[in-house]
Amino acid sequence: MPLINMSQMLRKARAEKYAIGAFNILDYNSMKAVIETAQELKSPVIVQTSEKTVRFWGFRPIITWIRELTNNSDVPVAIHLDHCKNLDFIKNCIDAGWTSVMIDASSKPFEENLELSRKVVEMAKPFGVSVEAELGEIGGIEDDIIVNEENAHLVNPEKAQIFLKNVDVDCFAPAIGTAHGVYKGKPKIAFDRLKIISNNTDIPLALHGGTGLSEEVFKNSIALGCAKINISTQLKYAFIDGFVGYYNAKPNEYNPLTLIDAQFKMLKKSVKENIQLFGSTQKA
Ligand code: 13P
Repeated sequence: MPLINMSQMLRKARAEKYAIGAFNILDYNSMKAVIETAQELKSPVIVQTSEKTVRFWGFRPIITWIRELTNNSDVPVAIHLDHCKNLDFIKNCIDAGWTSVMIDASSKPFEENLELSRKVVEMAKPFGVSVEAELGEIGGIEDDIIVNEENAHLVNPEKAQIFLKNVDVDCFAPAIGTAHGVYKGKPKIAFDRLKIISNNTDIPLALHGGTGLSEEVFKNSIALGCAKINISTQLKYAFIDGFVGYYNAKPNEYNPLTLIDAQFKMLKKSVKENIQLFGSTQKA
C-alpha cells in the first residue's frame, strides 16, 4: 500500500473512538519494528521523525527505507514530521515525500502561530500532505525542542476554537498538561479543557508526551477526541536497553547482528503494547 497522509486515518479513528500510535523512529531498525508490528496487528500507524533524526540521516535515506518497508504492506502508513518550527525544513520534507508535517509555532504569540500554521497548510495541501499544529505549549524535551516548565502552558479552549475556525489543519495538538520525556510526578491532565475543545470541533486531536501515561489517561483522552498518540521516549529506552541488555548478558559474543535483533525485538514489544492500548488493532 502506498504511503498516505494522516487525515482519513485520524478521522476514522476519532469517529470510532480509538487512537493511532505515532512512533518516533531513530533509524531503519526502529522504522522496521514499527511497520512490522502494525502489519502483524493489522493496525494503521504513523511513523514519526523529529527534525534532528532527519538531519542525522538525510531526507532520501528515510524516504527510501519507508517506501521499501511499505511496498508490500497492507496497512495504512503515514510518514509525519514531528514538531518543526522551520518552514524551509517543512518544505524540504514535503518535496522529499513526507505525507504529513507538524508546524510547531506554539512558542509564538497567537496571531503569529495562526499565520505560520496557515502558511504551512497552503504549502502542504496542494501536495496532499496533512498538517498538525499546536496551541498552548507542551513542556519537556523532544530532541532539539526544549520547553522549560516555566514556559509550558495549557491551551485556552476559546482560543483553540478561534484557531481552528481560521486554519484548516488535519490534526490539532492542544497542550493539556502532558510533557515530552520522563514524568517526574503524576501528570495533571486538563481533561476539562480537552472536553471543551472536543465538543467544539470534530478535528482529530493529538496527545503528545505519551511515554509514561496511564491506561486510564489514554482511555479518557481517546474518549475526548484524541486520535493520535505520540510515543518517543519509550522507543529511545527500548532502542538502548535492547542493545545494551544483550551486550551485558553476552559481552564476549561480538556478533553485531544479534545485538541489532535483540534491539528490534524490544522495539517491537514496546510498539505492540502501545497499539493494543490505543485500540487500533484490526482497524487497518
Ligand atoms: P514522549 O517522548 O513523552 O513519548 O512524547 C513523544 C511526543 O509527544 C513527540 O512529539
